[in-house]
Amino acid sequence: MAPATAHRSESMRAFLAIVTLVVMAVAAPTMAAQKVELSIDASKPGAKVDRNLFGQFAEHLGHGIYDGIWVGSDSTIPNTRGIRNDVVAALKAIQVPNVRWPGGCFADEYHWRDGIGPQRAVRLNPNWGGVIEPNTFGTHEFMDFIDQIGSAAYVSVNLGSGSPKEAADWLEYMTAAQATTLEKERAANGHPAPYKVAWLGLGNESWDCGGNMTPEYYLDRMKIFSHFVRNYNPAQTEQNQMLKIAVGPGGGEQRWTDWTETVMKAYQQHTWSWDMSGLSMHSYTVVKWPPAFKSVGFGEDEYAQILKAALEMDDLIKKHSAIMDKYDPQKKVALVVDEWGGWYAPLPGSNPGFLVQQNSLRDAILAALNINIFARHADRVRGANIAQMINVLQAMILTDHEKMVLTPTYYVYKMYVPFQDSTFVPVTFDAGSYKHGDFALPRVDAMAAKSKDGKLWVEITNVDPKQAAEVELNVSGINVKSASGETLTAPKVDSVNTFEAPNSVVPKPISAKAQGGKLILQLEPKSVTVVSVEQ
Ligand code: AHR
Repeated sequence: MAPATAHRSESMRAFLAIVTLVVMAVAAPTMAAQKVELSIDASKPGAKVDRNLFGQFAEHLGHGIYDGIWVGSDSTIPNTRGIRNDVVAALKAIQVPNVRWPGGCFADEYHWRDGIGPQRAVRLNPNWGGVIEPNTFGTHEFMDFIDQIGSAAYVSVNLGSGSPKEAADWLEYMTAAQATTLEKERAANGHPAPYKVAWLGLGNESWDCGGNMTPEYYLDRMKIFSHFVRNYNPAQTEQNQMLKIAVGPGGGEQRWTDWTETVMKAYQQHTWSWDMSGLSMHSYTVVKWPPAFKSVGFGEDEYAQILKAALEMDDLIKKHSAIMDKYDPQKKVALVVDEWGGWYAPLPGSNPGFLVQQNSLRDAILAALNINIFARHADRVRGANIAQMINVLQAMILTDHEKMVLTPTYYVYKMYVPFQDSTFVPVTFDAGSYKHGDFALPRVDAMAAKSKDGKLWVEITNVDPKQAAEVELNVSGINVKSASGETLTAPKVDSVNTFEAPNSVVPKPISAKAQGGKLILQLEPKSVTVVSVEQ
């Protein structure tokens, strides 16, 4: 008897505890939604929000290329000429404007001849885990991939350990239309038509893994590459000309402002024989080096701290834009943030050289905040590439053999598609403040733009993880009728999508009808929302 009684009283205690919790939850005062007035002046259009702000970066690093994109044509994973069909379909849906390849640090050790023709050179990848690089994914496979997803090629040439001749030959191989030896070799390898190289990276982080150069030394070398590495594709003239992106800063300290000064001062005096269309900038949200923050299994402290750090992108852009303005007031040279994103500790058990991390709701919010910063600087920032597209750092997609999952960041890119090549429209609002411990951040962020078809789109991020936001939307001079779109949130700041539970962080529909001339949107805490506004 005694054990049974003990068991019953234990169950009773458990039952009472649950009842108490339920009563507490129901009785707990629900935090009133924070009211935000958002005014949009659609009569004052700003700069074009270039679609290239939504660029991707795919490096030969970990499973970014092999397994992530390339499985080979004899794989049981459904593929087209060796390229995964599931990944292609997912990327098509987010209309990737360009893909930067083959690196990163890898680019300055890459020799393109290793990756063409029937016999591929097997090498090592010393930057990223020292693993075998089979070179089965080379120029033709990359261009096929670009074609399958409907994107454009951003090719970074090897300025660190390669020669100008090697890079010039690569460009001739890819783009020549006339019957040169290299053109014939490309045709013999299966592609008679010239490839388009939309963007050309003149080195990568030449101040560090790209050769540890001084700005002056880089400049001398860059001018040579800029002159001799030519694009011969007859379709790439005038408006379609290949854009040449020079290596730019990697931070805000004097070392980096000196770099921007040196390159931009030279640009101001450049002659016909060299040119640059963009200056690259790399800036990760990392806080501690080596990266120590967890990508999943964290709480509000890390949420607030990482998002606060992400907002530093704005000052960094302002700092380097101011230097660029001195030497290029007409803003001919774009600032291209071609590596950015959250960089956290490698997932336990993964190869630390593969930069494997999970991707949470926090990353979705981090992405939205960054994209909005880029859009606000759209007159100068005309390109950005999140690092990296698949299985590496802040990825769009995670794969494991035949399995694939779309990350919260992927959904942000999908929701932002209407902003590609839109026209920026000013928004005013009082952001308020979200405070947690030592960190204070704007509670909300927002941006608006007119899409190519003339529709007005608004994005609103509610950073506060606890308090909802009630947004009153006013569009000056327009009687707004309704708004509809999607909102992305999840139960926890570190909610993630996994292969087993792929739909924990997915967008839901949201809409609002104007009442009494007012359009009110109810936004959940820690959410990203994109709506189009109907008049
Ligand atoms: O994205 C990972 C690495 O970060 C890139 O290869 C390099 O350019 C940067 O340091």
